[in-house]
Amino acid sequence: MSSAQPRVPAREWALAAGLILLALVPVAAGSARLGSIAGGVSTPETARFVDDPVPIVLHIVAALVFSLVGAFQFLPTMRRRRTRWHMFAGRFLLVPAGVVVAGSGLWMNAVYTMPPVDGLGLAISRWIVGILTLAFLALGVANIARRRLPEHGAWMIRAYALAMGAGTQVLTSMPFILAFGPPDELARLLQMDAGWILNLFVAEVVIRRRIPSRRTTAVGV
Ligand code: HEM
Repeated sequence: MSSAQPRVPAREWALAAGLILLALVPVAAGSARLGSIAGGVSTPETARFVDDPVPIVLHIVAALVFSLVGAFQFLPTMRRRRTRWHMFAGRFLLVPAGVVVAGSGLWMNAVYTMPPVDGLGLAISRWIVGILTLAFLALGVANIARRRLPEHGAWMIRAYALAMGAGTQVLTSMPFILAFGPPDELARLLQMDAGWILNLFVAEVVIRRRIPSRRTTAVGV
């Protein structure tokens, strides 16, 4: 394994920057939410977070680690030349953070009294997304334990893409909110589901485009 400094091509930095940008909006919103929880000011909009802060604090802190570490895990050059960092970050940062993000999301879905616009449909979507994220992470771990590198990579891409629906949802909801105002229950469900579905679609495209490189890459996933 080369110990030389990896030269990361510009397009890979662009990929990392794009993924970080995608994460920044929900992470910034989450940081603002942490500030309001710390301030202890309870309004109808924030009461569930102030009354029961543990899951939302865990969720936001883990989302920060998950989204930032994950953005670098997928850079091909870093992955191939910094294999030790990739393994350390995956094992001790990304997978634990992903489990906490999905687990705390499911926890909030179970115990928080959501605003009326977050109806049953969105609750079901969140159950599915949280459980699938955990399942995809487990498949990613199981495949790397068997040294099945392409399959490991594919499942980790799916897990990251699905969890990061939180970022894409800003793009699938904000234009409509600006144009038409606050959504009703159906519009809100469609805007949120669109973020998750779009990310899963992009993940499948990326996974299929990676297939030719399997034959040429020794440690690439
Ligand atoms: C497995 C994936 C995820 C699930 C199932 C999930 C689920 C949830 C749920 C149920 C809530 C509470 C919503 C409310 O009470 O209004 C929430 C809040 C939040 N989530 Fe996630 N989430 C996931 C991933 C993420 C990720 C990856 C990020 C950030 C990159 C994120 C950022 C946030 C933020 C910022 C909030 C606070 C929203 C607010 O302040 O109103 N989530 N999430």
